[in-house]
Amino acid sequence: MARIKNIEFYNFRNFKSYKTLFDNKLNILFGDNGCGKTNILEGISLISKGRGIRNANIANLIKKDQDNFFIKNNLEIEKNIFNVEIFTEQKNEKFKKVIKINDDSSKDSLNFLNKSISYLIFLPEMERLFQASPSYRRNFIDRLIFSSRNDYNTLINKYKKSLLERNKVLQSYNTDNEWLNRIEIEICSLGLEIYNLRNSQLNTLNIELRNMKHDHNFPFDLKFEIKDNFVSNEINFEEFLSNLQNSREYDKQFGGAKIGPHKSDITSIVNNEFEASLLSTGQQKTIVLMVLLAQCNYLINRKEINPIFLFDEIGSHLDKHNRQILLDMINRFEIQFFLTGTDKNLFSFVSTNAHFYNITKV
Ligand SMILES: Nc1ncnc2c1ncn2[C@@H]1O[C@H](COP(=O)(O)OP(=O)(O)O)[C@@H](O)[C@H]1O
Ligand SMILES: [Mg+2]
Repeated sequence: MARIKNIEFYNFRNFKSYKTLFDNKLNILFGDNGCGKTNILEGISLISKGRGIRNANIANLIKKDQDNFFIKNNLEIEKNIFNVEIFTEQKNEKFKKVIKINDDSSKDSLNFLNKSISYLIFLPEMERLFQASPSYRRNFIDRLIFSSRNDYNTLINKYKKSLLERNKVLQSYNTDNEWLNRIEIEICSLGLEIYNLRNSQLNTLNIELRNMKHDHNFPFDLKFEIKDNFVSNEINFEEFLSNLQNSREYDKQFGGAKIGPHKSDITSIVNNEFEASLLSTGQQKTIVLMVLLAQCNYLINRKEINPIFLFDEIGSHLDKHNRQILLDMINRFEIQFFLTGTDKNLFSFVSTNAHFYNITKV
């Protein structure tokens, strides 16, 4: 179980220098638009694999007109304190994020860090989850999978790489058929794994939400499912492969691949009646909060993972349902929360000992 004890930023985003301690439980960051609340959550989310909550271009993390940023923090993992340092290195004009744990940037210590820390994230755009693009929804589900499997990103990246490779071969003048066959087999096996993991993630949500229903007084029944032109219930390797082979001509002409998990969408059926895209933004926020609560329950009780919550602009659209779900999370789980909002008053309903941080423009 990981806890962020403190953080220091130097030349990170809008901060020249910023330093604060954090509470083990509930941290609420408030301040005017543009003061740097999202940047702070982003900085925290960089303590792990990847490019943080905004999936940012690494160069953009550096304060304008500076050469590098530096993030320093103490991380408590199983009662031990680790010093984490994050900065960038430039290689062939490209910026690369570097993490050091106790001054060690070996693969082993990075893997240890990734295994020890997991984030559940709410971003204000998620209030439009079911009106956003299918790729946004795929990403949303993929992040949930990533919260329980820190190697999932590698799978997604490998899959994307193979798709690009196939595209290159299809577009080349002399198609190497043997090579193409090999890539397509690779695509199907990786793709199948992604389909299966997404399916089981959605099943997990469906089961957890059903089980939690009586305890939590949820306003909706939800059923999540994958929507995909190619896949119905059972996904079969041979069928996937022959479909991919049959779409070569089409894919050669239009680029990309016509079928596969990169084309899936995710829907949620509300009360067995209609799709979640018909709900208001505030109601979609309820769904997202329900999902995060369900995932948190799953991580803690089934996977022994204690996630850290990063909830950006959570203060708006907090009707009684949304408040209740948020309070349920805060009161039931011994984990660390970071919530942001423009006003301290938005959080007056939180009764636990919250620590408030007034972020001011620098
Ligand atoms: N690389 C950067 N250098 C300097 N300022 C930046 C950089 N990236 C973002 N900013 C600034 O940081 C400010 C705060 O952003 P943000 O954290 O999103 O604010 P909020 O408190 O509303 O969440 C913005 O005004 C933005 O212009
Ligand atoms: Mg913000």
